[in-house]
Amino acid sequence: MSVAERRRPAGPTGYPLLGVFPRARRDPLGFFMDCARRYGDAISMRLGPQRVYLVTHPDHVRQVLQDNARAYAKGPPATRVRGLFGESLTVVDGERWRRRRRQVQPAFQPGQHAQFASLVVRASDEMLERWRSLAERSEPVDAATEMRRLAQTIIIRACFGDLAAAEIEALGHALDTAVAHVDRRLWSAFGWLEVPTLAAGRYRRALRAIDAFVSRMLSQARRTAPPPGSLLAALVAAPAAGEPITDADLRDELKAILVAGHTTTASALAWTWYLLSEHSDVRERLAHECRTVFGGATPSVEMLSRLDYTRRVIEEVLRLYPPTWLTARMLVTDDTLAGYTIPADAMVLLSPYVTHRHPAVWEAPEAFDPDRFTRTRAVARPTFAYFPFGGGPRHCIGSAFATTEMQLIVAAVAQHYRLTRVPGVSVVPTAGLTLRPSPAVPCRLHRLS
Ligand code: HEM
Repeated sequence: MSVAERRRPAGPTGYPLLGVFPRARRDPLGFFMDCARRYGDAISMRLGPQRVYLVTHPDHVRQVLQDNARAYAKGPPATRVRGLFGESLTVVDGERWRRRRRQVQPAFQPGQHAQFASLVVRASDEMLERWRSLAERSEPVDAATEMRRLAQTIIIRACFGDLAAAEIEALGHALDTAVAHVDRRLWSAFGWLEVPTLAAGRYRRALRAIDAFVSRMLSQARRTAPPPGSLLAALVAAPAAGEPITDADLRDELKAILVAGHTTTASALAWTWYLLSEHSDVRERLAHECRTVFGGATPSVEMLSRLDYTRRVIEEVLRLYPPTWLTARMLVTDDTLAGYTIPADAMVLLSPYVTHRHPAVWEAPEAFDPDRFTRTRAVARPTFAYFPFGGGPRHCIGSAFATTEMQLIVAAVAQHYRLTRVPGVSVVPTAGLTLRPSPAVPCRLHRLS
């Protein structure tokens, strides 16, 4: 072992006991960016009692997520989100994870796409219809709330088929309450403690409501046939070669899909309208492409391959504001990373937000420039310079769904509406469970046809 391998990378010193926690909590994005600027590609720090390493270079990201993925488990960091994700694919490790991925994967096969796309189109149409009278009355909408409602409707119908509007609303409300609570506690020094506060009571009730809803859908599906084409039907039917998935596991998977499948896309879509309202040249070019490709017709999944500029815009949104802005791993065995020996039990953090701004890869990283994602420019970059959907064996299982969904929604909206931001409300990125624009993205709707 060389001397360089034994040294610990440099990094910020913090307070006794709390380490850098108070600074990271105050402004997580600013803090991590500042660390990368000051200390380079590998940074060591103490977050509370835990020694943590942040690595930012694409080669090191590849090592953690792909080349040596077996040495990096989700481990205890995932416990803070257990209420939402249970013992699902997103949090379990090792052989349990491998078996579960095999059980869940069939529900996300390309065969499921046409059905999924048609429900995205229908839900978008319903939203656009609702917008019509708001536009006539010049009433602004909050793009973040609109996108969250839309993404919730889509994922709920994708899981359970057609449901009454009131049922979707009730489940959506429970999801909002539970996600907001986890969001607040994520950066709380005592976030893992179950302190009996009013907010904790609301959280527990919301979780119970989600559980009860999912259980009811599951027992209905077991009694009669599950809704055809739904994720529930695909999960119940998953052949899984001698590895049937239990009802308890299925419940956790459905809960996790409900959460992971809408918070992420909703954040990305909210950022899309924010960025387009700031960059009218990009907005016009995108609208022109959508009008040319669809000519007023309803967007369909077959036509998406012709939306090259729209694809680039969405990829650039995910570069600047990756919804999953931080990913944590726990080392199972020692590993040599960035020239340093990192001991077992250390926590390794990866941040697409930081790596997507790495100066060795990205020119003028803060600029919004969709043309970075022309095919020629994209293939010239190291693979892990851009990883909004993670990478390696644990890459996002819903990435193709999410991409289809976002393209269809952006195309549907851009054909019919121009969104312009209501002046005077400053929007900042808030780094919680996802990276979302806060406090809101109030926009005026201008109907184009
Ligand atoms: C813009 C939208 C989305 C983004 C940016 C995103 C991002 C990610 C990322 C970065 C990971 C890997 C996390 C890690 O390595 O620790 C992940 C995993 C996952 N995502 Fe997504 N996701 C999105 C949409 C979705 C959708 C629509 C679904 C489901 C319908 C979904 C379900 C999952 C699941 C179940 C996992 C865990 C996979 C595993 O550990 O095997 N995601 N996602």
